[in-house]
Order: sequence, then C-alpha cells, then structure tokens
Amino acid sequence: MGEFGVMKRELYSERMGRLGTESAFTVLAKAKALEAKGIELIHFEIGEPDFDTPKHIIDAAVEAARNQWTHYTPSAGIAELREAIADTVSESRRIDIDPNREVVVLPGAKPAIFNSLMAIVDSGDEVIVPNPGFPIYESVVRFAGGEPVFAKLKEEDDFNMKADDIAKLVTEKTKVIIINSPENPCGSVLQKSDVEALAELAIENDIFVISDEVYCKIFYEGDECLSIASEPGMKERTLIIDGFSKTYAMTGWRLGYAVGPAQLIEYITQLQTNSTSCVNAFVQKGGVAALRGPQDCVTEMVAKYRERRDTIVQGLNEIDGISCRMPRGAFYVMANIRDLGKPSNELMEHLMKEARVVTLPGPAMGSYAEGYLRFSYATSIENIKEGIKRIETTVSKLQ
Ligand SMILES: Cc1ncc(COP(=O)(O)O)c(C=O)c1O
Repeated sequence: MGEFGVMKRELYSERMGRLGTESAFTVLAKAKALEAKGIELIHFEIGEPDFDTPKHIIDAAVEAARNQWTHYTPSAGIAELREAIADTVSESRRIDIDPNREVVVLPGAKPAIFNSLMAIVDSGDEVIVPNPGFPIYESVVRFAGGEPVFAKLKEEDDFNMKADDIAKLVTEKTKVIIINSPENPCGSVLQKSDVEALAELAIENDIFVISDEVYCKIFYEGDECLSIASEPGMKERTLIIDGFSKTYAMTGWRLGYAVGPAQLIEYITQLQTNSTSCVNAFVQKGGVAALRGPQDCVTEMVAKYRERRDTIVQGLNEIDGISCRMPRGAFYVMANIRDLGKPSNELMEHLMKEARVVTLPGPAMGSYAEGYLRFSYATSIENIKEGIKRIETTVSKLQ
C-alpha cells in the first residue's frame, strides 16, 4: 500500500526493494545528531579527505564561472577535459586512449559504477565483487537485476584479491569482475602477479572487468598504478573508473570519469543524457586545471596520509584486543576486533557513546567484514592520537 494510504495501489517499483545504500552516511548522520546535542566526537567513519581543494583548481573553476562557463556541455564532457583525461590515463596506464570515443566525464566515480552496471548487467547475470568492498557495487548489481558473487578478501592475504579464489567463483553466468585497487576498505594493493593472473582469468572466461581506480595515486610502499587495462588484451574488456574526489580532495565538486570500450562509453553517456545531462560546466574547467596543473599538491597530501597511516596502525596495534595490517594504499585501515568479543556494530555504538569516537562497523562494507571496524585516517594526526587514547581507555574497561 502506498505512503499514508493515499495511493490505493503499490506506488513504488519492485526494483527499489533491491537497492542498498552506503552505511557510512547513516553512521555519519547518527554522529551529527549527537554533535547537535553538544557532544564532541572524533570522526573515522567517512572516506573524505580533510584537506582543502588546491587553490589553483578553485581559481580555474571560479574564473570559468565568471567567463560564463555556465551552460550545458556535451553529455560526454568538454573536449578539453576529455583530452586531459585521455593524456593522464594513457601516461599512467601506458595504453592509447581516444578522447572522443573512449572517455566520459561524470559527476563522480559513483555514477560511473551505476551507469556501467546498468549498461552491462541483465537479470540473472553474475558479477564478482570484492567483500569487504565498496557497498555500492553490491547494491547496484542487485538493482540492475544481477547477482553479486562475493570474493572474500582474506586478512592472511593482506586482503588482496587472488585469481585462484576468483576462479572458483566463475560460472557460465559470470559477466563482470569488479576490482578495486588500492581497495576501500582494506587499503590492499594488487601486485603485478595478481593483476596478470586476474587478466588471464578474465580473458579465458570471456569476462568483462570494471576496475575502480579512484585511489590510484594514493600509495605508500613504492607501488605504482597497476591497471588491469594495461595487460595484453585487456583494454578492450576493461572499464577504468577514476575521479577527482580522493586524489585532489574534491568530494563535493562531484567530478569523475570512465575510460573504456567505445560502445560502453556511448551507453554510459546515453544514461547520463537521460539523467543528469552533463557535469556542471565550470566544475569541468576545474578538472582540467587539476589534471594539467602542478601535481605537488597530490604528493604533499599522500605524504601526510602516510604519516597518519603509520600513526594509526601503530596506535591500534598497541591496544589490547585490536590488531591491524599495514595498508599499502587509500586512507583506510581494517582493525580486527574479534578478541574484544563484541560484534562490530555493538562495538561501534559503544565507542561512539563511551569514547566519543566514530568508526564504521565492518559489515557496512560486506558480509565477510564482521569482526572488523574500518577507520578512515583522512583526519589530522592530533585527532588520530586523541582517538586512539580514548579507544584504549574505553576498550580496557571491556576486558
Ligand atoms: C572505491 C570507491 N569508488 C568510488 C567512490 C566514489 O567516489 P566519487 O566521490 O568520485 O563518486 C568511493 C568513495 O568513497 C570509493 O571508495
């Protein structure tokens, strides 16, 4: 029955029952409600850089707005930005990209995930998704009518996706594998041998790959951007998703892109024409400045993330009952809290109330993440140190 009984028949589509969400936003809302009551909290739950967007990027967008870059653009994005994206991706992934046919600009990486899955997945298709992993993959696969098949990322493998494990999940219905490296929430980074083995598996079984590379500039251990699209025979069966939110601290700008086979890019663009039309014109000019401008802002942010990673990992490992691996990329760490004997959700609630520290319970990132809390360390060293101190005090009373 429809809302408030106004409608005599069911108003909402059956497909809405299959759409999930990103619980980090639900936890954030709970935390904000406590803050509204005057309770001061330290936040580790949301994956959002705390740095300011670099000034030269803001200046370019402001100037563009003043110069009347305030109208519709082509759905696929302005040529100048598509060319900048093609150059950036060609150089970092060592593949040739046609800016006119193989690039689409979108309002974030999220719409690239949504539109590509809507374009590819039919009812009954299976899509292999990392678990723990970004929850939007599972949500949109189901929304599109597909079946997510979970690839368990194991702590003993440093949470890396292993081709041998994936091979066991492949059936004749497997249409897509989604990979994400560096990974949210585990901070794992695929190594060359893993990438090669996954490429071989995809080719052998005629599977398409969606490679979410939004953290591809945030590495700490000398890794490089190893895209599966760079492997022989893979460019034709890979969609690279990347964006500006994480690399340039531009989450609120809503700017991202997808690079892949021309027909898929055309479908993604057509979905954009049917929904948002195009990305804000002066935001796209900011994107050009980000890609074409100086990159030392990125180097500086990554250096700060590294310092924070070292501080939080050391601090968490010093707390009795909590342990964690050293993440190689992104700005998250998965803390194993099994020895504390409390389910993740309960511990998250307890820490929010007693320690006034907000974390994300593992199950928000997948069914295999019970027994973990995700910490985002995109926050200051002072917050990290104070947060660890508070957790230690609260946790010591549990044992
Ligand atoms: C793995 C992954 N992909 C995509 C996104 C979404 O990025 P955007 O802000 O560009 O939509 C996020 C954000 O948390 C993410 O962690």
